[in-house]
Amino acid sequence: MSTSSSTAAERNSKREFLKIVLIVFGVSLICFSIFFVNHQENNKYIFETLELNGSAEEGDALFKINCVGCHGITARGLVGPDLHSITKRLNDKQIIKQVTGGLTPPMPSFEIDPVNMSNLLKYLHSLE
Ligand code: HEC
Repeated sequence: MSTSSSTAAERNSKREFLKIVLIVFGVSLICFSIFFVNHQENNKYIFETLELNGSAEEGDALFKINCVGCHGITARGLVGPDLHSITKRLNDKQIIKQVTGGLTPPMPSFEIDPVNMSNLLKYLHSLE
């Protein structure tokens, strides 16, 4: 009698364990899918931006609206660093991540479409 009741308890706890394993697996799967989709979107954005050949003049105008407050009217630096020769230190992908990522506060993340991002890149490349 006591043996059979302990097996039932064992079976129950095994079922509980399986339930938890399934939940953990499900949640990980969801997290992974979200991460994967996000990653693909980011890659698509970068790829689209790098395909374009931007305009330095348009980029200059964008820079004057969005960036001069921190990087200075001639991009020589203020709160943010001097951006002359930035394209020698960072590649385009790194610059895109810097501008859109918001990874280094106080610099905000900018929501900027690929065309304008490519204009900005062209402008930054034009700085000696
Ligand atoms: C609120 C202030 C602020 C604004 C606005 C801002 N930045 Fe920045 N930026 C910073 C600061 C501060 C850093 C340095 C971050 C760090 O590395 O700690 C930085 C770093 C950078 C870097 C990397 C520099 C390096 O030496 O690694 C780039 C490129 C850059 N900014 C581009 C831009 C562009 C382009 C814009 C406009 C679209 C912009 N920033 C707007 C404050 C700002």
